Amino acid sequence: MTQPDNFAEHNIHLETERLILRPFKDADFDTAVPFYQDPDFLNAMEGESPDAPVTKEYLKSAGEYMRKDGFLFAIVEKASDRTIGEVCLQWMNLERAKIEGEKVMRSPIGIWDKTLWGKGYGKEVVRCLMAHAFEKLGIDRFCPVDVRADNPRSKRLWESLGFTVAREIDGGKTLDFEITRAKYKKINENIT
Ligand SMILES: CC(C)(COP(=O)(O)OP(=O)(O)OC[C@H]1O[C@@H](n2cnc3c(N)ncnc32)[C@H](O)[C@@H]1OP(=O)(O)O)[C@@H](O)C(=O)NCCC(=O)NCCS
Repeated sequence: MTQPDNFAEHNIHLETERLILRPFKDADFDTAVPFYQDPDFLNAMEGESPDAPVTKEYLKSAGEYMRKDGFLFAIVEKASDRTIGEVCLQWMNLERAKIEGEKVMRSPIGIWDKTLWGKGYGKEVVRCLMAHAFEKLGIDRFCPVDVRADNPRSKRLWESLGFTVAREIDGGKTLDFEITRAKYKKINENIT
């Protein structure tokens, strides 16, 4: 049974050394909105600034797409018990990255508070989601798409976990990364 205020409509709870990933709640949008007013976060996340300030309604409509196609999580920092970001483990919805006969997922991620960037939280989240996706959901390929080439933190996040560029879009301004199940297995030899 799902909990009250379970916007994400799933019941998966995951845990890393310093973080908890739990189903995203409606109330988490209220926490997110102020961070979406920060141009540094907004540019990293959205690529270009929307015409009007980001509202709860805007974030909820994006969230509705994500929950329809996958598992939307709030990222909670254990030490502070604060919700510090969002990540979705999402079935591939871009035609260019779909592969017939393969189960492919993407994972848009944002750590809202920029004072927490560069502390290894992004890697902790993605490692955890890769394990869940490959080992529990049995996916064939994990494909972070629409990564801006001028976002070094995001690029490095994927590269440092063994992802490689699958394709360049817009003359190299946007990158799609990928890791196959075979490569994931090779890196994590203990996978069953
Ligand atoms: C992108 C994001 C999720 C990465 O998470 P993070 O916790 O900041 O990153 P991590 O600390 O786990 O670091 C990941 C890698 O990037 C490297 N890195 C960190 N800051 C960096 C910087 N300013 N420039 C280059 N590399 C950097 C880290 O050293 C690490 O690589 P390593 O393990 O080889 O040393 C986070 O910064 C974020 O949410 N940014 C805003 C939104 C965004 O850009 N989302 C992604 C859209 S595709």
